[in-house]
Amino acid sequence: MKLKRTHTCGEIAVTDAGTEVVLSGWVENKRDHGGMLFVDLKDRYGITQVVFDPQRNEALYAEGKELKPESVISIRGVVQRRPEGNVNPDRKTGEIEIIAEEVEVLNRSATPPFEIVDDCGASEEVRMKYRYLDLRRDVMRENIIFRHRVYQSMRRYLSEEGFIEVETPTLIKSTPEGARDYLVPSRKFSGRFFALPQSPQIFKQLLMIAGFDRYFQIARCYRDEDIRADRQPEFTQLDIEMTFVDEDDVIAMNEGQVRFLMKDLLGIEVGTPFKRLAFDEALKKYGLDAPDIRFGMTLVDVSDVCADAGFKVFQAVVASGGIVAGINAKGASNYSRRQLDELTAYVGEYGAKGLVWFKVEEEGGTNVLKSPTAKFFDEGRQQKIIEKTKAEAGDLLLFVADGPDVARTAVGRLRVRLARQLDLIPKNTFELCWVTEFPMFEVDEESGRLAARHHPFTSPTPATVDDLEKKPLRVRARAYDLVVNGVEIAGGSIRINTPELQRRVFKALGIGEKEAGEKFGFLIEALKYGAPPHGGIAYGFDRFVAILRGIDRIRDVIAFPKTTTAQCLLSGAPSPVDEKQLEELKLKIIRERDSSER
Ligand code: AMO
Ligand code: AMP
Repeated sequence: MKLKRTHTCGEIAVTDAGTEVVLSGWVENKRDHGGMLFVDLKDRYGITQVVFDPQRNEALYAEGKELKPESVISIRGVVQRRPEGNVNPDRKTGEIEIIAEEVEVLNRSATPPFEIVDDCGASEEVRMKYRYLDLRRDVMRENIIFRHRVYQSMRRYLSEEGFIEVETPTLIKSTPEGARDYLVPSRKFSGRFFALPQSPQIFKQLLMIAGFDRYFQIARCYRDEDIRADRQPEFTQLDIEMTFVDEDDVIAMNEGQVRFLMKDLLGIEVGTPFKRLAFDEALKKYGLDAPDIRFGMTLVDVSDVCADAGFKVFQAVVASGGIVAGINAKGASNYSRRQLDELTAYVGEYGAKGLVWFKVEEEGGTNVLKSPTAKFFDEGRQQKIIEKTKAEAGDLLLFVADGPDVARTAVGRLRVRLARQLDLIPKNTFELCWVTEFPMFEVDEESGRLAARHHPFTSPTPATVDDLEKKPLRVRARAYDLVVNGVEIAGGSIRINTPELQRRVFKALGIGEKEAGEKFGFLIEALKYGAPPHGGIAYGFDRFVAILRGIDRIRDVIAFPKTTTAQCLLSGAPSPVDEKQLEELKLKIIRERDSSER
């Protein structure tokens, strides 16, 4: 590198006219206009136009013509105010250009696999494989720089509020958060494994027992679970824990923090306190425990009307303890057969066995229901459905009958999908709400066993704690989730702080004394020595950044994300390892025979 950079590509102004400068960066593009060559040179800070004038230096002009896009070069030249009419008002450096006097090529780029522009048209696979090129695009760079600002804002706020940043280990004994662990074999102790943390949960509790009072960490978490647009196997949490607090304290602190962040990062004022919804209410009204409250179209339960109507499917569901839940899609009675089939297939993805629809039409002065299923509902029942759904002519009513969970989830998802299709979601607004009073346990679908809805260190509410032994599904947790625009961005709880209660919860989960001792003995032990009341929360950091940027996919705010099959396309991880490494770890790979051998 002969030429040493004096300025970045985003800072030279008219006031620099006449000075000699050296710029280094990437060749964005080059254009030959009437014998003059213009090269746009870019770096993180901006773009500066460089002029190669054959009248001044023919050899240099020839060199300039050879420059390939994305090559790295340094340019020495003199700043000149652009001639009248050539000013580019959209660019920070649009009033000046550099008259090149010397060029040094530092790396001649091969032709990139896609054009480095915002609208590059490359598939996500190609973008992930060449992530360093993808990150050169303005949108991606801005996402990552915004992410940096979020870290800094959070650190500033929490530090000023007296929170101490502490790192906790990532080679740990498994912490259950409901997903599968990533395991790391120990070489010194063959046959034993570390787990990568699904969250710093137990360690942050230990820090409270240690007396740190207020802790935070921007922590990496690892969960081997099915990946979706808003999930990664390796993701980041803003993890927080506080001592001598109850739910209201944690909630108030977080409302203050979110208000600060929204103002600092986006200049938006959000009102506090945020809405609070009990879990049951969220499910009844919105069908989901992460409700999008930016729009109405809330769920309507018509089980009572259907219980003895002539429609067998619905009758049977209600008779067996299920419900008939639906929504009124206002003004959507023009939906075509194809659109309705598509909605039916959509609810099917959430387990619904079908979707009954009615179009509301006016007939002789009254509104009636029209659909192949309408004949099973007499006039009185039709009027009741119309009344309950507040339907008017031109509306489309949609119903799913099933067990309460499936029916609500299916209609809850349908509600969000329809809101998008019908353009009911206000743009550029953030609607925040807390969901509280979660059930402590749920029945795990695979094993049929009880599982903690949040995690097993969450405290039951005093009013329901005595149901632990006999009616565990009635126990409510002192847990809370923060939901923004229908996305769960944070979740936390008040923790158990006595060994007795912790044992009772383990027992309810079917974790016996022995297993509890083996897995969590160190925590139960710690709870004996002056464990103060404490609670906290963790934000899905990637989700928070994405939502502030108005992006659905968290991959776009992560520098080096993994694919939906948990692979790194850039490096090729996971990959096989040397036999020698396996030998050292005393591990043997059992190769699955391919199906043709079976
Ligand atoms: P929880 O499991 O709810 O709680 O996680 C907290 C938040 O992390 C985000 N999140 C994810 N983001 C991206 N990819 C994933 N795979 C993923 N999984 C979760 C969500 C979620 O709200 N230890 C507790 C917190 C506590 O009790 O303080 C915990 O981890 O936005
Ligand atoms: P079938 O009696 O199965 O032909 O269904 C008649 C109509 O009822 C079809 O439009 C189905 O989509 C619908 N349907 C069937 N089961 C359900 C259900 N559980 N919930 C809602 N609609 C259903």
